[in-house]
Amino acid sequence: MSDHQITTDGSWVPDACTLPTAERPVRLAEFDQLFRDALRGVERPSAQHLRLRLDGTPQVEETARDLTARESSVMRSRDLGAEELVTARLALRRPTPADIDLIHALHSDPRACAHNPSDMLSTRAEAEDRYQRWDEHWQRWGFGYGVVHAGGLRLGFCGVKVMALRRREVLNLFYRLDPAAWGDGIASEAATAVVGWAAARGPGCPVIARVRPGNTGSQRVAVRAGLHRAEHLDSHGEDGLDWIFTSHWP
Ligand SMILES: CC(C)(COP(=O)(O)OP(=O)(O)OC[C@H]1O[C@@H](n2cnc3c(N)ncnc32)[C@H](O)[C@@H]1OP(=O)(O)O)[C@@H](O)C(=O)NCCC(=O)NCCS
Repeated sequence: MSDHQITTDGSWVPDACTLPTAERPVRLAEFDQLFRDALRGVERPSAQHLRLRLDGTPQVEETARDLTARESSVMRSRDLGAEELVTARLALRRPTPADIDLIHALHSDPRACAHNPSDMLSTRAEAEDRYQRWDEHWQRWGFGYGVVHAGGLRLGFCGVKVMALRRREVLNLFYRLDPAAWGDGIASEAATAVVGWAAARGPGCPVIARVRPGNTGSQRVAVRAGLHRAEHLDSHGEDGLDWIFTSHWP
């Protein structure tokens, strides 16, 4: 689209890039509030490019990051419920039976399960069973754990599942990547998209991550995805104490 063809109505926006009607006023109000409180300058390098300068406080940064993540999860995706969530480098897709080999490979790699040995699998039959459980969750809820695709490779898994924590319904955030893909921001990118999707399109319950105290990498990913440490929710899981990170707590 050239600068001369820019339209200001919504006619050029694909359906997949729009929020449900009921959510739009709330999102607009959030942007209005951010701009009212924190906007310090505006530049327009071209008709398609608007540069906004915001106040540099941590609170403003957090709000801008949160809104941007939620907005890009709408703008870039056919949402997770439509079985694909797309980020700058990744596509998260519903697992298929063709992914059972990857479930088996990653869950029999001691490096990928070092902090959660109870997740390990021994046989392919166990991997098939794990796939069935993930698929049943997708059938029931319309979302679940996704396969992380990038450049023709499958790098691992990231997504959310419904569970209970302290008698409340929550979405458990999960990520497990092939060790060959570690250290490149992949988990942060995938988890941020999933948390953004949950905020925009999920059932509204908190997104939580349950992380072993020694799993520093996973804790960093949870924080990067927008979750906050919630010591008061720490719980004992199958592998011992889990530190809880959450998007919010009602
Ligand atoms: C945890 C895991 C998902 C991180 O994946 P990743 O793609 O390497 O993570 P990122 O590159 O997005 O890194 C995010 C942050 O964590 C830090 N980090 C990643 N691995 C780390 C490690 N082993 N030790 C310390 N910090 C680490 C990165 O430096 C980065 O820090 P920053 O936010 O300060 O920049 C990956 O190591 C993994 O799959 N581990 C096994 C499965 C697992 O433990 N899942 C979580 C269960 S709760």
